[in-house]
Amino acid sequence: MNKIIYLDAAASALKPKSVVSTEADFLQNSYANSGRGVCARSAAVDDMVARSRQRVADFINADPTQVIFTSGATDGLNRIVNILSSQPWYSSSSVFAVSDLDHHSARIPWEALLHIGKIRHMRVCELDDNYDIKIDTIPKTDFLIVTAMSNVLGRAQDVEKIIATARGKNPNVITIVDASQYVVHNKIDVKKWDCDFLVFSGHKIGADTGVGVLYIRDTNKYFPEKFGGGMVVSVADMARAKESRGGWIYQNCNSCWVTADAPDKWEAGTLPLTQIAGLHVAIDELEKNRPDLNLIKYAYDELSKIEKIKIISSRDSAILSFVVDGMHPLDVGAMMGANNVCVRVGNMCASWIHRAMGISGSVRISVGAWNTMDEMKQAIDIIKKIVK
Ligand SMILES: Cc1ncc(COP(=O)(O)O)c(C=O)c1O
Repeated sequence: MNKIIYLDAAASALKPKSVVSTEADFLQNSYANSGRGVCARSAAVDDMVARSRQRVADFINADPTQVIFTSGATDGLNRIVNILSSQPWYSSSSVFAVSDLDHHSARIPWEALLHIGKIRHMRVCELDDNYDIKIDTIPKTDFLIVTAMSNVLGRAQDVEKIIATARGKNPNVITIVDASQYVVHNKIDVKKWDCDFLVFSGHKIGADTGVGVLYIRDTNKYFPEKFGGGMVVSVADMARAKESRGGWIYQNCNSCWVTADAPDKWEAGTLPLTQIAGLHVAIDELEKNRPDLNLIKYAYDELSKIEKIKIISSRDSAILSFVVDGMHPLDVGAMMGANNVCVRVGNMCASWIHRAMGISGSVRISVGAWNTMDEMKQAIDIIKKIVK
């Protein structure tokens, strides 16, 4: 069988050998749970988790206590909605604002709140002629969801300016950044952006599935929304609880308990340790070797010569998405797949941007650090034959 040309990095990245060997080594030689044992092996796992957390913190310019491990971006985005909507000060008459760049995972959890009447007002940020967020028309809102890079159009948004503008209209706005695609191609600086929350998935940056990052700026401002082992320091009577370190004291008729400090307070249950072991290695690899976007430019230049192809992304994007006159995206993708070229097709969990462009789906080419120009040339030749 011919070699597969994997041009679907934006869906999930292939894994560097160093990530695979780190995880295998952890599983074979160093495995134990974290935060629960007193033996040397458990202590080594605690150190590994702390190192990985520190690496993520450095990667996004945060403090390690602000870095929470989740199972992925979708988990993080849902948790944010659950955190915010369960705070005592939360009001269902709040306004949230989204944009048509959003992935389903960023917007549907908020629309679900709308559906059950736990929030009443949704605004949609306007897009300009390039389908970038129109910053000067950002509405006044209580919660703002910012997709830092669309998974269809691949253009980096000016997150700092978007957030500053939203804060100009409401100093108390809570801002949530979905950096799932942005993180692959660009440096993140949560301090500069001044966002309240940010998420991304490990698997898109070469780490394993099942691990993600949730950044929370003000970890003490919120009650946790997920409860269980590891996130309380004591379950005791009130007098003892008051002497404990930690954050919030909860009381009910049976016992009273004190939450741990961040990040533990946000990490109930056993962490995805193997994936965490690989995560910091993946970040090292990504920073050494980002995907070569000249491949995308080459594809753009070649495909724009074909009359039947309409490219919907721009030449300087990190992603190339297109439609073919008279052919369904699924058929294009299936024919490419039959020729051993893997791409993503359909609405890509980003229905709104397709709808805004008057189409139901598209074909997406995306690259990782493993892709070569030679592979891209072969893939383009195959597309030319398919659409001929
Ligand atoms: C922009 C964006 N947000 C969120 C997600 C959801 O990521 P995950 O499926 O890893 O939770 C994706 C995945 O495609 C994405 O591209």
